[in-house]
Amino acid sequence: MERTLVIIKPDGVHRGLVGEVISRIERRGLRLIGMKFMQVSPELAAQHYAIHKGKPFYDGLISYITSSPVVVVVWEGPKAVETVRQLMGVTNPTAAAPGTIRADFAVEIGRNLTHGSDGPENGAAEVALWFKPQELVSWQRDGERWVFEKN
Ligand code: RTP
Ligand code: MG
Repeated sequence: MERTLVIIKPDGVHRGLVGEVISRIERRGLRLIGMKFMQVSPELAAQHYAIHKGKPFYDGLISYITSSPVVVVVWEGPKAVETVRQLMGVTNPTAAAPGTIRADFAVEIGRNLTHGSDGPENGAAEVALWFKPQELVSWQRDGERWVFEKN
C-alpha cells in the first residue's frame, strides 16, 4: 500500500482551508494514518526542500513554509501519490485543471496551499522525515473493501 505526505501550507491554515483539503482527500477514499499541526523549523524545511536548493524561488519557499504553522497528513492507498497530486492540480494554480484544490482556491505558485509527495519512494522518505513510526496508526476502516479492491 502506497503512502503520501500532504502538507497544508501556512496559507491554507490562515485561509481556513484545512477542513476543505482534508475533506476532499478523505471523500476520495484514501486512508488517513497520521496527522499533526506544527510549526516547521528551518532545519526541517531545508531537508524537505533540499532538491530545490539553489533555485531562484528557494529562499521564498523556505520563508513561506516556516512562516506559521502547517497541518501535515499521511494518507495510504493504492496509487496514493498520484491520487493526491491529481486532487491538488499542477504546481502553478493558474495552470491547474478546474476542480482541483489549487485551481479552486489559489492564484499564485508561491501560495499554492498544499504539498504532496511526487512519487512512491519520495512519499515513503517524506513520511519518515516528518513522522516518527509511533505517530502513524495502522488500522482497518469499516467498509474498506468497498473503497480498495484489495486491502
Ligand atoms: P509541492 O512539492 O509543494 O507539492 O509542489 P510541486 O511538487 O507541484 O512543485 P515543486 O516543483 O516540488 O515545487 C515546490 C514548491 O515550490 C514553490 N515553487 N515556486 N516561483 C516558482 O517558480 C516556484 N516553483 C515552485 C511552490 O510552492 C511549489 O509548490
Ligand atoms: Mg514537489
